[in-house]
Amino acid sequence: EQTAVQAAAASKVVLPDAQTVTEVTHWTDRLFSFRVSRPASLRFRSGEFVMIGLMGDPDPKTGKQKPLLRAYSIASPAWDEELEFYSIKVQDGPLTSKLQHIQPGDQIILRPKPVGTLVHDALLPGKRLWLFATGTGIAPFASLIREPQTYEDYDQIILTHTCREVAELEYGKQLVENVRNDELLAELMGEGFADKLVYYPTTTREESPRMGRITDLLKDGTVYKDLGIDGIKPETDRGMVCGSLPFNKDIMAILEEAGLREGANSEPAEFVVEKAFVG
Ligand code: A2P
Repeated sequence: EQTAVQAAAASKVVLPDAQTVTEVTHWTDRLFSFRVSRPASLRFRSGEFVMIGLMGDPDPKTGKQKPLLRAYSIASPAWDEELEFYSIKVQDGPLTSKLQHIQPGDQIILRPKPVGTLVHDALLPGKRLWLFATGTGIAPFASLIREPQTYEDYDQIILTHTCREVAELEYGKQLVENVRNDELLAELMGEGFADKLVYYPTTTREESPRMGRITDLLKDGTVYKDLGIDGIKPETDRGMVCGSLPFNKDIMAILEEAGLREGANSEPAEFVVEKAFVG
């Protein structure tokens, strides 16, 4: 049983950073997305992440509850009134085993301190922007492809998404469709802005129109042939990478081989990788 003091202490931790869930969508038995209210004071750059979570179970001895927080890329653009997140469900995962059950009206904890490397400021100007994702690594790019600056800064934006199965591509597929039909973006960027966006989904363990790891399709030239471009070059091409650690490493090797260098907020260059992401 909690004492009044413990309850007050616990509520002090939660209340200032509590946000209300407005919408939950389950995409597969392992993937869901949700939207929450946005703190009025929260400013962020599209592509950044924040710490979000729930209160953990009370300590059996002291009854104290500690927040259980993980880094989540903000999937909504900086101009959106709400915040969107895209998450895996891990049945024995400390946070996602609980988080997958949230409903509209529930509260989550959101620390309003956005950070991250997948931001426009960390890249030198270029002509073509590659966004390389696996699994839920598409989240920061869901933000960036809804951000007008992305279309102002580049002639072409190529979003690649590799998943095991077709159903795991659905969130990204609908996202791209929504961007292409977005009247607000069209008004802001001019009709035809969406022609700049190229979507390149692939699956590795289920039949689909394009099969294989994006790394293999880059190495054997399939991607370039499909898109009618003659490769990745440091003069024109910029990259952002977000996926599992082995994926990030393999894409980095391909980009470095092509002569691109890794950049950071403090020192912009030709590509950036999100290291806080574990998907
Ligand atoms: P594969 O099925 O060949 O392992 P995961 O669910 O393991 O995170 O993987 C998500 C997707 O990313 C899968 O399609 C997987 O392909 C692919 N993938 C995993 N590791 C790499 C890598 N090092 N390079 C390219 N693709 C990868």
